[in-house]
Parts: sequence; C-alpha cells; structure tokens
Amino acid sequence: MPPSKKLKILFVTSEVVPFVKTGGLADVSSALPQILLEQGHQVRIVVPKYGAIDERKYKIHEVVRLKDLTTNIGGKEVVFSLRSSFLVGPKARVQIYFLDNQEYFGSRHSLYSDPLSGEEFADNDERFILLARSVFELITKLGWVPDVIHCNDWQCGLIPAYLKTLHSEEELFKNVKTLFTIHNLQDQGVFAKSTFEKTGLPEKYKSEEGILHKNKINFMKTGLVFADSINTVSEKYAEEICNDKEYALGLLDVLAKRKKDMFGIVNGIDTAIWNPEKDKKIAKKYSLKNLEDKTQNKKALAEKFGFEYKPDVPVIGMISRLYDSKGFDLVEKAFKELMKLDIHLVLLGTGEKKYHKFFENEVIKHSGKFSCYLGFDDELAHLIEAGADIFLMPSKFEPCGLNQMYSLVYGTIPVVRETGGLADTVDNFDEKSGNGNGFVFKKYNAADMMKEINRALKIYKDDQKTWIKIMKTGMKSNFTWMNSSKNYIDLYKKVIG
Ligand code: GLC
Repeated sequence: MPPSKKLKILFVTSEVVPFVKTGGLADVSSALPQILLEQGHQVRIVVPKYGAIDERKYKIHEVVRLKDLTTNIGGKEVVFSLRSSFLVGPKARVQIYFLDNQEYFGSRHSLYSDPLSGEEFADNDERFILLARSVFELITKLGWVPDVIHCNDWQCGLIPAYLKTLHSEEELFKNVKTLFTIHNLQDQGVFAKSTFEKTGLPEKYKSEEGILHKNKINFMKTGLVFADSINTVSEKYAEEICNDKEYALGLLDVLAKRKKDMFGIVNGIDTAIWNPEKDKKIAKKYSLKNLEDKTQNKKALAEKFGFEYKPDVPVIGMISRLYDSKGFDLVEKAFKELMKLDIHLVLLGTGEKKYHKFFENEVIKHSGKFSCYLGFDDELAHLIEAGADIFLMPSKFEPCGLNQMYSLVYGTIPVVRETGGLADTVDNFDEKSGNGNGFVFKKYNAADMMKEINRALKIYKDDQKTWIKIMKTGMKSNFTWMNSSKNYIDLYKKVIG
C-alpha cells in the first residue's frame, strides 16, 4: 500500500469522552480517532447509548437508514437503531454512531454493573453480542466499508470472530481487517457456556480452539484468537502479558501463540484537555515560565478539600479506581506509616466496597492529614494534578496508565511501580547523574513503595533545587498523540497488507 494512502477506520468501543467514561479507555477512544482524522484519514466511532449519555446536549439524532434494524440473539429478535452525532474536538469532528436499544442500554445509567449491588449485569453477554452484531449492520446499511475495524477490549471481542465466520463469504467484507487492542486484561468478559448459543457462531467454535476458554465463553480470548493483529497500550505490558502468567491472567497460552502479531503502542495524552498552561478547570494556569503559580492550585486544593494550606508540607495525590490491581492493598498496608509522615494525602476515585469502607474510616481518624472524595469528578481530577506535589500510582499491573503522564506535564512528580506503561513513561531519578522524572520501585510490596516515597520526600524537603529540576524534566515531556497515532497508522497499514 502506498505510504500516503488514506485509511478508513471504524473504531468500536464501549466508552468515549466526553459522552461517557469509567476509565482510560474513554480518553483513548476520544483522542485517537480525532488525531487520525486530523491527519486526513476517515474515522467513525461506534459506542452504546447508555442512559447516562445526554442525547439533547450531544444532539444525537436518528438516521432513517439505520433505524429499527434487527438481529437475532439466541432465538430472540432484537430491534436496535444506530443514531448519529459528532465527537467535537478543537481540530476535528468525528462521526459517531450510538447503538440504541432501550432494554440493553438506554434504560440503564451505568455501563457494566449494577451500582447498588456492584454485580455485573447478568445480560452483559447479550449486550455486547448486540454491539458486535450492530457493527456489521452499520457497514452494510451505510455501504461505508472500513479498511480496519479497530476493536477495543472484551466488549468488542466477538467482532473479529463474526468477520471470520458469519461474514467470511460476503463480498462487502472481503478486504476488511481487524485490530484488537487490549486496554486491560483484568476484565475478560467471561460467561457460562450457554452463552455460546446466543452468539450464533457455527457449532465447531464451541471448543477450546474456538471461543471457549477453560470451559467458559471468554470474549477477550475470542478477540485475541480471531483478530488479524493485536496490540496493547505499552511495550512493557505487551512483553509482560506474553511472557508472565501473573500478568496474563489465565490467557498466557493464547497470548504466547500470537506473540508475533502482538504490538505495544503507548497511549498519548490529549494536550487540549491536559495542559496546565490552558487548563480552565484549575485555579491558576501555569507553565515552565511561571511555575510558582502552581502553588495557587495547591492552595485551591486545600480549600476544596477543607484542609489547612501549608506551603512546605508536600501534598500527595492519588486518582484511581480503587482496586487491588491499582496497588490499594499496598496503600492500605502502609497507611499507618504514611499518616506518620509530614504530608497531606488526597484521594479521588471509586471502586471496591472494602476500600470505600477503609478510606471512609481513615478520613475520620486523620482528618488533618488525609482527604478523599470517593466518586467521579473530572474537575477535581484536574485540580489534584495541578495542586499536588507528588502523585502516587503503585499499580500491580498497569497496561498504560494516563495519570502518571498527566502528572508529569503538570509538574507533579510521580511515584510509581515499575510495571507496564508506568515503566515506559517514568524514569527513576538518579541522584548521581541527576537524570529522571520521577520515583520508581520494582518489587510489589509496601516497604519498597514507602522507601521511594521517603526518598521523594527527602529531596522535596532538603533540596528544592533538585526537586524543581525533576519537575521541569517532567513538564518538558512530549506525550502527544501525534507520536502514538503514527504507530497506529503503521500498524493499520501492516494489517491491511
Ligand atoms: C485501562 C488501563 C490503563 C490504560 C487505559 C487506556 O484503563 O487500566 O492502564 O491507560 O486502559 O488504554
């Protein structure tokens, strides 16, 4: 294919900023399509229309050709529509289709699980079978045939399988390829064997060679087996999951088999949204030129959370889903010790019930030292990135991670564990050479985490000159999507052949 050929990409995902977000997948699903379009490629997005998406605000409208389409899920006729709107960024307007079905998506606010019980929705299999099926209807009805369907995480896992089975003989799909991106192996879309009948796939795939995995249906595995090419969101995570069973979470054999089709492309960050020089959500904008203004944000952060502003006391920020895999078991273990330090700790996030309970208790015990908001709040996230001095991200696994990159460009020095994308983006500060942009610990345990936190605090207290140098190194980083999108374009071209 000539290097200048413009590509047609259909980007399928289960969440997109600003419409709906639970994690970093939503940021990627917004930024990457925009930058591809900016470079002259044709890109369209498909996402479910959950109840949480405001259709008036986003002017989501009907398309006659895409209205009242039908498919069959396990003998049940399902009617759905694809409605249209645009993802509007500063430089690009990307066509986006919302998969509309009241029963599966519209009637529920939340994306994957019941907020009250915390349980995953019992019909998640049917919901995401519908997403996969709708993609083929969309292409057929529009007559807009992509070169590549870019599938993201388990929710899109069946798309490559349908392409290679149910649609393999159709002229329209003859040249269509799939790229499957793993954003996190933690959730794999695992269902009882009886889900097989709902998929409508030929009987021979009801096997371990097909879409069964350990005698269950596994949507992630399905994507990994049938996709033409696979990538994940950092080089280090690609290496970890193909070689180490602790990281592969039950899929080592499947991943190892596809090693030669597996690529690592680190995510970028959306610099229109995450840039301290232009950020409207923070108290005072700043940059390398007026770094002292960052303290205005520290002050605002103290006000917002209601703790006393002390310029010399370092604020450690955390923004994360509250899961073991994000390192919260280490934080819990080290909490007593942390609270003995001369710091203030600020936490934003939601997740497992046990951590909600834990932090709700601790905030009462240590109200002068620890503040938290156990919910989603985009504005607070910006203020924490701008107002904290240190950002803690002790993940056990981290496919890419975005907050460490936000922290770096906001001059908020990250303390991270050496894994996945954290290892690829944070360089451990070396006292001898003076190089590095953060603090990195290797072994996953609380003592090693505390050691790095203490090393950071010591430099913060004793050597502000060095501290500022580390801040500046981070602020000069270039994590724009331009670099990563080039790698995606190369990969799309490779897949197309
Ligand atoms: C998932 C991963 C995170 C990654 C994001 C976007 O949320 O946990 O590491 O940055 O996806 O790819």
